[in-house]
Amino acid sequence: MTVTIVGSQLGDEGKGRVVDLYGAAADVVARYQGGDNAGHTVVEGGNEYKLSLVPSGVVRGKIGVLGNGCVVNPETLFDEIDTLRERGLEPDVRLARRAHVILPYHRVLDGIEEDVKSDSDRKVGTTGRGIGPTYEDKAGRRGIRVGDLLDAELLHEKLEYVVPQKRALAEKVFGVETGEAFDVDAVHEQYQRYGERMKEENMTVEAGDFLASRLDDGDEIIFEGAQGTLIDIDHGNYPYVTSSNPTAGGAATGTGLSPGIVGDGDVIGIVKAYLTRVGSGPLPTELGGVVGDTPDYDEQGAGENEDLAEYIREEGGEYGTVTGRPRRVAWLDMPMLRHAARASGFTGLAVNHIDVLAGLDEVKVGYSYDVDGEEIFTVPATTERWGRCEPNFRSFDGWPEVDWSEVADEGYDAIPENARTYLEYISDELDAPVYAVGVGPSREDTVILNRPFE
Ligand code: IMP
Repeated sequence: MTVTIVGSQLGDEGKGRVVDLYGAAADVVARYQGGDNAGHTVVEGGNEYKLSLVPSGVVRGKIGVLGNGCVVNPETLFDEIDTLRERGLEPDVRLARRAHVILPYHRVLDGIEEDVKSDSDRKVGTTGRGIGPTYEDKAGRRGIRVGDLLDAELLHEKLEYVVPQKRALAEKVFGVETGEAFDVDAVHEQYQRYGERMKEENMTVEAGDFLASRLDDGDEIIFEGAQGTLIDIDHGNYPYVTSSNPTAGGAATGTGLSPGIVGDGDVIGIVKAYLTRVGSGPLPTELGGVVGDTPDYDEQGAGENEDLAEYIREEGGEYGTVTGRPRRVAWLDMPMLRHAARASGFTGLAVNHIDVLAGLDEVKVGYSYDVDGEEIFTVPATTERWGRCEPNFRSFDGWPEVDWSEVADEGYDAIPENARTYLEYISDELDAPVYAVGVGPSREDTVILNRPFE
């Protein structure tokens, strides 16, 4: 069977923990979208591994697949594989021949476009990894795929067509001088070597066939979604989105297996017990504000619930892993979660960070929005309308600080009663049972109610 892991909010929900938790009983962990814009830390046997492209299950000896819906930067891929090897592991990573390749000019163009937008509110705040420009070329039918790297002559031909276009775009439209990243022979030299290595290591597969035959043989497969529903290119807060589909439909189109197979398995929505957002854009249930990110907010500390936001930010360690930037903090947003549950069809939920809210007198949930004179229950399609939404709150009694490791050992009934009431409210609203509850930072700090593969 399959288990699909989907972020239900804006990323940073703690998907890695759940992939890790259920991945222990899986044979294959497959990514279906995104590239090295995702970042996760895996701790195994006291060692810490930082990965952004290779599926995390590889650290635990599982087969990792990068499906056709992914965009692959071979430099990152081989860096990660080499680092794992240097540390004594034998990573088994398979690449879809249909997956698109991130080329040096994609990264440069990603940076150029963000620079151009930097003085306006059109800046997306991308990770700068060339993700958007690579998916643009995929849709524009001029992309280079993993399969093309395996044929040096074909690769040269394709680069001869596309590279001059990219050079003209950079130089003539954006007025930026170009270098080796836009030179056909230099790019060809580097990328045909990556292709050679992929061949030597026998890494490439027809991913759909590969995964289907593993399923036929009785293997358990995890589809590991990166990012989250509200940054999905179709279902997210466009244009402040990534360029792929983290929602469950992406698991079918991005692997070559049918929607029926994905739907026959579990689809687990990962929910943070509150909400955070990095960068700008609407956040109707926001507690405080972050200057530079919260729209129309120019004085740090001026927000109505600033102390509370600060408390949750500190308790939850809500600072960007790479930049150290404070994340914006908000109460749980049910319209957002209803939208996510509908788009992906959650059969189960994993709710993380319930311990972070411990010790508060009350915990609130935005259960609907008022906008333009009506009450609505899901997220509006446009950023502008979403920005005008005022939340209606429901209040829950808080729960005390307890020994959460003990709770993890003892199970669901050891979770403080008011926290269980909160969890059950979320579950009822989304019509999906709670499969797991995160009660602390490490994988062990998890109350597990359902193990889909067992
Ligand atoms: P891109 O994916 O680099 O194009 O970035 C597009 C948007 O998605 C930006 O707002 C990024 O901050 C966001 N984003 C991309 N990857 C992640 C992630 O793994 N977690 C949270 N946000 C992400």
